[in-house]
Amino acid sequence: MAQQRTTFNSKLGLIMASVGSAVGLGNIWRFPCEAGEHGGGAFLIVYILCVMLLGLSVMLAEFFTGRASQKDAVGAFKILAPNTMWKIIGYNGVIAAFLIFGFYSVVSGWTLEYIYQSASGNLRADSVEEFTANFGKFTSDVFRPVLWVVIFTLITHIVVSSGVKKGIERSSKIMMPLLFVILIILGIRSLMLPNAVEGLKFFFNPDFGKINSAVILSALGQAFFSVSVGMGCMITYASYFNKSINMPNTAVSVVALDTLVAVLAGIIIFPAVTSFNISPSQGPTLVFVTLPNIFQQMPFGDLWSFIFFVLLAIAALTSIISLHEVVTAYLHEQYRMSRRKATAIVSLCGLALGIICSLSFGVLSHVKIFGVIIFDLLDFVTANLMLPAGGMLICIFAGWFISKKALKTELTNSGTIRFRLFAVFAFIIKYVAPVIIALVCLNQLGLF
Ligand code: PHE
Repeated sequence: MAQQRTTFNSKLGLIMASVGSAVGLGNIWRFPCEAGEHGGGAFLIVYILCVMLLGLSVMLAEFFTGRASQKDAVGAFKILAPNTMWKIIGYNGVIAAFLIFGFYSVVSGWTLEYIYQSASGNLRADSVEEFTANFGKFTSDVFRPVLWVVIFTLITHIVVSSGVKKGIERSSKIMMPLLFVILIILGIRSLMLPNAVEGLKFFFNPDFGKINSAVILSALGQAFFSVSVGMGCMITYASYFNKSINMPNTAVSVVALDTLVAVLAGIIIFPAVTSFNISPSQGPTLVFVTLPNIFQQMPFGDLWSFIFFVLLAIAALTSIISLHEVVTAYLHEQYRMSRRKATAIVSLCGLALGIICSLSFGVLSHVKIFGVIIFDLLDFVTANLMLPAGGMLICIFAGWFISKKALKTELTNSGTIRFRLFAVFAFIIKYVAPVIIALVCLNQLGLF
């Protein structure tokens, strides 16, 4: 007898789990930093266009693949396209998920250190330079950051080993609403700062003259990373959707909430930055260096920074869970391993990779591949190459290999729900997305 596939319990739970995957360090740390570097408002507009046009379509193509097959990221292609090479998309995804897990766990670990520092009142320095130096000293240490990676991986392990319903769904249902509450409190606090308007102007007033190809390309890359597409995550989650879920609506909700969080993060960060006269184009140190500096100048600064880093840790946790699940589901289903064993293997191997990535800031910093440390290499290879390639291939798969009829049947639950923009979606995945994404990949490789 065929075994009934695990499904998420409720519609709310499934949306929270998917939003949990999408909302992460990408929204709160990477998005403001990209927006700051690429002109604020101009970037925001291009980003929103990319998310609506491409992020959403790729997500729907992944939802289709996952729910139609009811399998893990690799198994899905073995079912929908037996004896073909399409399963390469799945392998690309599983490997990307594992590699992202490695460096993501390091940054997630840093959030724990900053929670600890804020709680113990030690997150203080006399200048931005000192904050920068402290951050550098901490990240290049051998023991401390590794300890946090171990702790973070352990927490992830506990959630994933509790299973899809009890672990992933239940934890997301608690953590995601909490995250929204914290975001709104911090947003209001930030808007009350003197000179907040300047920050809002920077973030919302588009200067169209600033839109150039670099802005468009970085917005596209950010859109992919942020909505967790291109690596089988949404395939895996959709395989746990039951057949009555309205997938077009779900995809719209996930993408809209993800974008909302990114915008809220901008509303928190830019007014705070301009209010304290710091340049918004700080780059990646924005969150770990600039913000603590800002917090310490505010009344109850330790409390605000504590709240902020808790927020960041929650966002990171719900995303890293989804990365773990991609690999766990693959091992569990393709090698017929018990879920327990699969989870343990992924946690242990992920931990090993995480430790290597963490050490690449310190004792392993001399190990350079293509001129960069291991952490940066994994970040570059996954976000800039593997995700776009995976996204492009899945569009080609759903647009060209799968018949339009099969696609429509699955996405409309056999005609029982309406999907008015189906024709537009089909056109995007068939022509628009592959071409645009291909241009991005070539650009990232420096070929265009
Ligand atoms: N979307 C997550 C974020 O914004 C990162 C992520 C990418 C998670 C790919 C899962 C898969 O941080």
